Amino acid sequence: MPDSPLSIPPDRVPQHVAIIMDGNGRWAIQRGLPRLAGHRAGTENLRRILRATVEFGIPYLTIYAFSTENWGRPPEEVEGLMRILEDVIDKELDELNREGVQLRHIGRLERLAPRLQQKVLDAIELTRENNRLVLNIAFNYGGRDEIVQAIQRIIRDGIPAEEVTAELVSRYLYTAGVPDPDLIIRTSGELRISNFLIWQAAYAEWYVTPTYWPDFDREEYRRALEAFAQRNRRFGGVSEAVVNRAVHG
Ligand code: FPP
Repeated sequence: MPDSPLSIPPDRVPQHVAIIMDGNGRWAIQRGLPRLAGHRAGTENLRRILRATVEFGIPYLTIYAFSTENWGRPPEEVEGLMRILEDVIDKELDELNREGVQLRHIGRLERLAPRLQQKVLDAIELTRENNRLVLNIAFNYGGRDEIVQAIQRIIRDGIPAEEVTAELVSRYLYTAGVPDPDLIIRTSGELRISNFLIWQAAYAEWYVTPTYWPDFDREEYRRALEAFAQRNRRFGGVSEAVVNRAVHG
């Protein structure tokens, strides 16, 4: 069966989708496989979702690949996730570059092996002029850590207290210049934010699905976007319909 097209008006397509790719471990255990096999399957799925993101015309995608808390996992899993990042750069970078994907990293690079840090920096440099899709990889990322670092830099820059506004704080975050996520997708059913984009998610819409990440396919992605397009985003105000009713009776 051919893929169903995305049937929403262009102005209802989110500008920025962020994904918590959860459930790789459980996907693997369910199949009697080691957890790392789940992360490998999750990486394969990422290719499909990237392709669909470009197809749907979404200009920014952020993926949560490794959190500051993930260092607490068994060493072989941590090493495996590092290797996946390296493999993605080694094997996929040329194609990503050809497809017009601009790679960015959010999080702390310092704790990664120097060789891996260099690969990440080189990939960012190589793709910096691309503009079809901005792919932010959150790797060794923590939302609180990001805010703490922003505060430290604001203080170091000697910004007077009365000049500290929400806009200024946003400019000190890793995501400076990137619009806040409109839609955050979390797979595997957990109802938590898990320290992901905690500042930027202030007005994001959520789509949570029980599907494990390796099984979250284009079809479900399309449904998530169509559900998003139906939402009435009020950003703390009231909806247009309510205003019209109040004004016109
Ligand atoms: C959460 O599932 C997933 C992660 C911690 C890693 C996600 C990484 C990938 C999908 C690989 C792509 C990576 C890069 C660098 C592009 P979990 O292990 O917490 O699953 P569980 O909750 O079922 O145990």
